[in-house]
Amino acid sequence: MCYAIPGKVVSVDSGKATVEYFGELKQALVIDADVQPGEYVYAQGGVVVGKAPEEDALPVLEKWKKHFFELKHIDAGLSRPGSGFGALSPVIEKARKTGTLAVNEMAAVLEAEENLEMLYSEANSIRKEMLGNACCVHGIVEFSSYCQNNCLYCGLRRNNRGLRRYRMSEEQIMDTVDYAVEQLGFKALVLQSGEDDFYTDDMLAGIASKIHRRHGILIFMSVGERSRECYRRLYDAGAYGALLRFETSDETIYHKMRPGKKLKDRVDLIKYLKDAGFVVATGFLVGLPGQTSRHIVKDILLTKSLKPDMYSFGPLVPHPATPLASAGKPGINDVLKTIALSRLVDHESKILVTTALETLAPEAARSGLLAGGNSLMINTTPPGFRESYDLYPGKAKDEALGQTVKNTLDLLCSLGRAPTDLGV
Ligand code: 5AD
Ligand code: SF4
Repeated sequence: MCYAIPGKVVSVDSGKATVEYFGELKQALVIDADVQPGEYVYAQGGVVVGKAPEEDALPVLEKWKKHFFELKHIDAGLSRPGSGFGALSPVIEKARKTGTLAVNEMAAVLEAEENLEMLYSEANSIRKEMLGNACCVHGIVEFSSYCQNNCLYCGLRRNNRGLRRYRMSEEQIMDTVDYAVEQLGFKALVLQSGEDDFYTDDMLAGIASKIHRRHGILIFMSVGERSRECYRRLYDAGAYGALLRFETSDETIYHKMRPGKKLKDRVDLIKYLKDAGFVVATGFLVGLPGQTSRHIVKDILLTKSLKPDMYSFGPLVPHPATPLASAGKPGINDVLKTIALSRLVDHESKILVTTALETLAPEAARSGLLAGGNSLMINTTPPGFRESYDLYPGKAKDEALGQTVKNTLDLLCSLGRAPTDLGV
């Protein structure tokens, strides 16, 4: 099973490879592979993660060829530009033409209550025009549910004494990664934990390096605010991706939600990661207490200014064992509008449709992909651990991982999206 299809390298110039997929050219960064024109490679998150010998690549491509064009056809049928936006028409027109909107205009989109399907269609058609039907599917391995922080929204917060905590050993992590890569075909994995100093920099770098050497996949670290030195070591070990949300761009809300933490430290670290060459995923929570549409506009603008490789934002899902137990949940349209607006003001971004969104409504992943989203994540944490990584209620699915993968691929197929991950 493939989440990325091999492409043929056409040229390599200043660390970037131009890779051909059935006549389409995409760019991917070459970090540590020795890649020559004429060779076949896998690209994930815009990075060449490995080579495929020609004799392996050609049969995969042959199998995919017909399917690839069929998928494009389905996608084209499902992503027609919107129309009839009512009062929002000039705003949408401007966004399509320029990719920028004033704060007031952005807030108006978030506050819209009518013609939402048209708004989503428009965002979806911009996605298709700018990026085609590629959709990345990353796996996530949640390796420790211990956290020394006390974020008010999070089920892993240290004051949640009722939670059964776990730490996976290096061997358990490697077994999980081996299974995800070898049996299920993942080419990019996120290693996530609470902020847990039990894992020293040495241990994390050792694990990253082992995965990198064994599998050559794109590894994202999602381990919170560790030192720059730690992140540098992780990068050197072969973890070229980092997932770190800033959670909210509003200082007042931030300080309330993340006791003892500073927004500036967080944002500075994200900037550092980008400067250090990481493939960066970042974003925020939708629905925090006190957050208005203007705050979300600022969140989107901060995300955009950080020039991330992927937007990652999702709804707050109140957890009963946290101080936000009785906070209201945002509606699915609040999140879909945020996806659509992000697409309107950042045409070429990758926008993750998060698992938290999927807890708001059945078919939410489908709706997110049809509102401008173009990336998905699958939880590959083994049962037995998965239930205890209790960030928010309804997160752990109890279906077998193979089934989740199949359902996800079926969903992508039905929407004409190719589970490839191409382009920087
Ligand atoms: N609902 C939704 N997302 C949450 N996160 C933490 N708690 C919740 C919640 N209750 C998200 C945070 C964090 C990521 C690992 O999980 O945004 O960055
Ligand atoms: Fe820890 Fe992250 Fe949860 Fe905050 S959001 S308590 S840092 S796991």
